[in-house]
Amino acid sequence: MKINHLGIATKEIAGALEFWQDALGLENVHTEVVEDQKVRVAMLPIGESRIELLEPTSEDSPISKFLEKRGGGIHHIAVEVDDIEASLAKLKEKGMRLIDESPRIGAEGCLVAFVHPSSANGVLLELVQTIADE
Ligand code: CO
Repeated sequence: MKINHLGIATKEIAGALEFWQDALGLENVHTEVVEDQKVRVAMLPIGESRIELLEPTSEDSPISKFLEKRGGGIHHIAVEVDDIEASLAKLKEKGMRLIDESPRIGAEGCLVAFVHPSSANGVLLELVQTIADE
């Protein structure tokens, strides 16, 4: 396993890029709207991992709620797994609370599923299974 990305909530990706890209020197290589999660994401590689900037696309986006409560910051940690179905089955068997019982399609067509913070020390955990490179 490895850390696929760290999700950071922001009101506006453009503003966040002034820090992460312009000042710190990371590069925004991919921007995409994930309709299912009502977010716009920007991906900035850092080593073998990435920073994922998350901007809400609507008032009822989970990111809007997070921003209201916390005003931005680390929203989730994403762990890359080989077989997301197997990981979910194992977590379920161990009695862990899942937000997604089965995987959804996330950014870049990856399979993703969220684990509830109550089972992961207050951390919202995203499981990611990347699609094979063509
Ligand atoms: Co994510």
